[in-house]
Amino acid sequence: MAEEKPTMRAVCYESYGGGAAGLKHVDVPVPAPKKDEVLLKLEAISINPFDWKMQNGKMRPFLPRKFPQIPASDVAGEVVKVGPAVKKFNPGDKVVATLSLLAGGGLAEFAVAKENQTVARPPEVSAPEAAGLPMAGITALQALTQIAGVKLDGSGPLKNILITAASGGVGHYAVQLAKLGNTHVTATCGARNVDFVKSLGADEVLDYKTPEGAALKSPSGRKYDFVVHCAEAFPWSVYEPNLSDRGKVIDLSPSVNGMATFAIKKLTFSKKQLVPMMATLTGENLELLVKLVKEGKLKTFIDSTHPLSKAEDGWEKSMSGRATGKIIVAP
Ligand SMILES: NC(=O)c1ccc[n+]([C@@H]2O[C@H](COP(=O)([O-])OP(=O)(O)OC[C@H]3O[C@@H](n4cnc5c(N)ncnc54)[C@H](OP(=O)(O)O)[C@@H]3O)[C@@H](O)[C@H]2O)c1
Repeated sequence: MAEEKPTMRAVCYESYGGGAAGLKHVDVPVPAPKKDEVLLKLEAISINPFDWKMQNGKMRPFLPRKFPQIPASDVAGEVVKVGPAVKKFNPGDKVVATLSLLAGGGLAEFAVAKENQTVARPPEVSAPEAAGLPMAGITALQALTQIAGVKLDGSGPLKNILITAASGGVGHYAVQLAKLGNTHVTATCGARNVDFVKSLGADEVLDYKTPEGAALKSPSGRKYDFVVHCAEAFPWSVYEPNLSDRGKVIDLSPSVNGMATFAIKKLTFSKKQLVPMMATLTGENLELLVKLVKEGKLKTFIDSTHPLSKAEDGWEKSMSGRATGKIIVAP
């Protein structure tokens, strides 16, 4: 008689659209690790806007590749099994990992991760704190260090940086990381989060619902060398008067208009530029973020924690665009 495969609880969707109501609770086989993969018993998963944008068809026809799709890619947990080529990890190790963005697999009790996308998690870094890091933290890190050239050891010339939606997942990491460098940080958020964003280290904070906030105008009259733009796209005319001579807007949610602006600014050799950015989620970057959390230099603020049985509540909160920090699901 064939051996019965162990099963696990998971949450999936079977077609585009449907939002939180389109999520289904299912029992599926526990995935088996390939030779360069680890099998994780999950302790925390974070939901990102990417996850529900994929569900609502924003990346159609490329993603998801097939249905049903178990969404989410940011996970923390314990290694329970390793593939034969895995060298760095053993069963019992506590880790954080980025799952394949194509395959997902996060909203479940178990998931498989590539060894090179898995990072050891020291006891000082809790599973929820670690699970918040991959997509949001790496995006903030790459925008600041690779595009804006901020050095996290505080060296280099002073840069004036604007971070929009600084209360969100990406924004709250971006403020903290920017302040490790030689920067003056202006941040935008809603009135209810002004004190929170100041506590992250922002030098000045604008309520985005005031006229000055909507105009992105620095209260101290500074012009921005870089804008880490985490909010939905604004017209170029809003950024332009606030940028320094060679100011750049790093656009994390490039729209058709944003791509057109990017092309026009390039073709006309404009000194002020819009730079569309898609993060590349590397194990090296994740390792650096875990180290910063361990050293107390970076914190994950948790908006809310939801059991796997109520993952749809976390999904709905993320879709509302009202999260302060990261939304966590705990199996
Ligand atoms: N390109 C990439 O590689 C990449 C990677 C990660 C994320 N992203 C994108 O980056 C964006 C941000 O992601 P996230 O995870 O940080 O989102 P999030 O956590 O859902 O952001 C929610 C926060 O944004 C605030 N907010 C919304 N509109 C605002 C505005 N106009 N001005 C100031 N604050 C505003 C909200 O404040 P209130 O509740 O007060 O309104 C809330 O605190 C998303 O579009 C995501 O898809 C791109």
